[in-house]
Amino acid sequence: MKYYVRALICIAVLLGVVCTVKDYYDTKTVNPNDIGFEINNNVQPWNLILINKTNEMTDNLLPELVTTENGEKIARNVSLHLEELFRAAEEAGFSPELTSGYRSRNQQEDIFDDRINEYRELGYSKKEATSLTNNYAARPGYSEHETGLAADINSSDGDSRKLYEWLKDNAYRYGFILRYPKGKEDITGIEYEPWHYRYVGTEAAEYIYHNNMTLEEYLLK
Ligand code: DAL
Ligand code: ZN
Repeated sequence: MKYYVRALICIAVLLGVVCTVKDYYDTKTVNPNDIGFEINNNVQPWNLILINKTNEMTDNLLPELVTTENGEKIARNVSLHLEELFRAAEEAGFSPELTSGYRSRNQQEDIFDDRINEYRELGYSKKEATSLTNNYAARPGYSEHETGLAADINSSDGDSRKLYEWLKDNAYRYGFILRYPKGKEDITGIEYEPWHYRYVGTEAAEYIYHNNMTLEEYLLK
């Protein structure tokens, strides 16, 4: 066989192998709106996606979003559950408001940088200001607000304290958990945030509530 024929056959075989390998990896790609999210090589159901200081949000995990009445965005899969939670809170006499739902990477960057600047204005060094900010705001790329599954809920009436108490003991019925509880700061890496709720679905939320857990503990159990 002529050498160029052999070379052509080799190239064809090589192309075939490359295409087969590519097809294999393409079919392994997780569609976040379909079956789940891939985090640190672990495929989770979409409602149990873990974003924290060591688990990064990536663009391909973005869910479909809807815009709420006040212009905030939230994952489409979560919006009905949030409405149910708000209705129940209203029936209990509160005026809940979604003050922050989905945030883009740029929005999270602005929030993070603003917080650092606030500390800088108080006289902290850049290192100190960044370290303090890390206790309250997630670094861009590591905020679960970027998933559209998190909701900051406050009262439109001003004082939110009574609403926070009600949410703490009722939000799980609608599939939401208090994501950064008091006393769990060493696990979540974030200070107590009574307004920050995260949709995980009713099964996980009930378990997490009754066992006084964080999402991290639930996923590791
Ligand atoms: N405040 C929470 C941790 C966030 O920035 O996502
Ligand atoms: Zn939040």
